[in-house]
Amino acid sequence: MGSKLQNTQLGTSQLGYALGAEIEGLDISLNLGSQVYGAINHIWQEHHVVVFRGKHLKPRDIVSFAEGFGDLDDHASTPFYRHPDVPQLLQITNRLIDGKPSETRNTGRNWHSDYSYTGRPAAASLLYCDQCPPVGGDTMFANMVRAYESLSGTMKGIVDNLHAVYDVSLTAGINERDASKTAEVRRLNPPIAHPAVRVHPRSGKRALYVSERVSHFHGMTRAESKPLIDFLCSHATQPENVYRHNWREGDLVCWDNRTVMHVALADFDQNQPRHMLRATILGEDSGFVVRDE
Ligand code: SIN
Repeated sequence: MGSKLQNTQLGTSQLGYALGAEIEGLDISLNLGSQVYGAINHIWQEHHVVVFRGKHLKPRDIVSFAEGFGDLDDHASTPFYRHPDVPQLLQITNRLIDGKPSETRNTGRNWHSDYSYTGRPAAASLLYCDQCPPVGGDTMFANMVRAYESLSGTMKGIVDNLHAVYDVSLTAGINERDASKTAEVRRLNPPIAHPAVRVHPRSGKRALYVSERVSHFHGMTRAESKPLIDFLCSHATQPENVYRHNWREGDLVCWDNRTVMHVALADFDQNQPRHMLRATILGEDSGFVVRDE
């Protein structure tokens, strides 16, 4: 994997063996042309997570840069947590909001792919670090293409034929949020089944699409499904398959939700500010709503 890092336009260095690359020396606050987006997409497709460091972007800069990759999600599935002036951005923060601890301070605490509980699971996410604690608050990413490819042929055959049911209620910490908002988030996002293997529309690569937010496989009981969900999640998140990002202020980390799942770690002092802004690129329509199963 690491040998193909020569790129005529963009300086790149690999961050992890399984996934992750940094793109160096590019001013992403400028209007970038389609050739530059094409070069970024090429690197992104190969490494699944791309990192830009030291950028110090304003909210609107993040949106302008993100729009070059596709239509943005308006975060209607979680409408309460948008940036007040720039609704295309989701605020993931432990700052006080209206004098109260922000409800998004514990976002992303179990392995997941963004908006998998919606009918248009995210294609990609771009997360900007405005403020981070001096130690910890890392995010880990797992390569779901490698996870799929390293399964036995028999297990591939099994997961190829499954639909995983995603349930927003399995979002870690959701019950610590305001009960009326959580009820609305549940109403907006009934359990939905997606193929357990997601095919990347550009590369054609097959990626495992099962996370800790899957309640069961469609047509199977929860008891039957659980050992398989547990196995697939622990298989996918083996340390060798993971890149761990240690944030610095001004980092913009972009991941492909079709080939990566991630988790935000609570390994930091919550008295220290952590303020992140996320733009999300809409994916394709997918899945069917599952009731009474
Ligand atoms: C997320 O799950 O999108 C949040 C990740 C993070 O805050 O590190």
